[in-house]
Amino acid sequence: MKNRVTKAIFPVAGLGTRFLPATKSVPKEIMTLVDRPLVQYAIDEARAAGIKEFIFITSRGKGALEDYFDAAPQLEQELEAKGKDELLKILQATNMESGEIAYTRQHKALGLGHAVWCARKLIGDEPFAVMLPDDVIAAKTPCLQQMVEAYAETGGNMVAAMEVPEEKTGAYGILDADRGDSPLVSVRGMIEKPKPAEAPSNLAVIGRYILTPKVLDNLNELGSGAGGEIQLTDAIAQEIDGEGVHGLCFEGQRYDCGSKAGFLQATVAFGLSRPDLKDDLKGFLDGMVADGKIG
Ligand code: UTP
Repeated sequence: MKNRVTKAIFPVAGLGTRFLPATKSVPKEIMTLVDRPLVQYAIDEARAAGIKEFIFITSRGKGALEDYFDAAPQLEQELEAKGKDELLKILQATNMESGEIAYTRQHKALGLGHAVWCARKLIGDEPFAVMLPDDVIAAKTPCLQQMVEAYAETGGNMVAAMEVPEEKTGAYGILDADRGDSPLVSVRGMIEKPKPAEAPSNLAVIGRYILTPKVLDNLNELGSGAGGEIQLTDAIAQEIDGEGVHGLCFEGQRYDCGSKAGFLQATVAFGLSRPDLKDDLKGFLDGMVADGKIG
């Protein structure tokens, strides 16, 4: 099956415990990278790749996320009255058309695989993307677009892959695959969070996937895997001898905004990439590095 990919699932039902206490009342995906919530970066990347339908898997306490995508007529009127056209444009670009976005609840945080499975009735019988908004990827050609282009050649299932230091394999799904000259690798096996000694390579799966509906069928049958969670990796791995699995070693820099260190690095990198902030921020960082005092 080599259909076009027009639907994307955004699993955002996790507890976000690494950012407590902030995530006690603010969904992690609404946390701000420079001046936009994390989720906006994922939406922009999805649109660039041709995604037309956005399916969010949410949970209790994620109301701010739904509000974010609503029109804000009063705010728009005020900006218009004050002639703040630039800001108005920025604001309107975040609105979603009615029917373009759907929300479904994951009632218990049973794992990423279970979260994706919650969208099965909205996906139907077509290939779909999965995007984890905590992975923010800076790239000339947006990562999902690179994958959609490669997928047009391969069909089957595709995961975004990157090399990680050997001692970090325990934090990722790891591919059994050989990194050759081509960015596309053929996957022989997948294992969730292996210890470095048991990892078949240092190619890690990160939060971008293009999957076939068969993976949803596999999730139907699947029990808990590593960490007692229903693992997406396990359901994809079942397709290695079925519809096939490829890894795409994408071009670009991935920031793990699900971790504090990654979020801080992304904030600095995206700040430095902004012409309006660059000089101030650089001056500040140089001073901090030289002196190291915060007060
Ligand atoms: P994480 O492993 O980062 O978990 O999930 P988390 O709950 O978001 O954060 P921590 O580890 O407690 O700090 C990866 C992605 O999968 C989603 C999360 O929302 C995140 O986008 N997820 C995870 C679900 O939607 N449901 C789950 O049951 C688990």
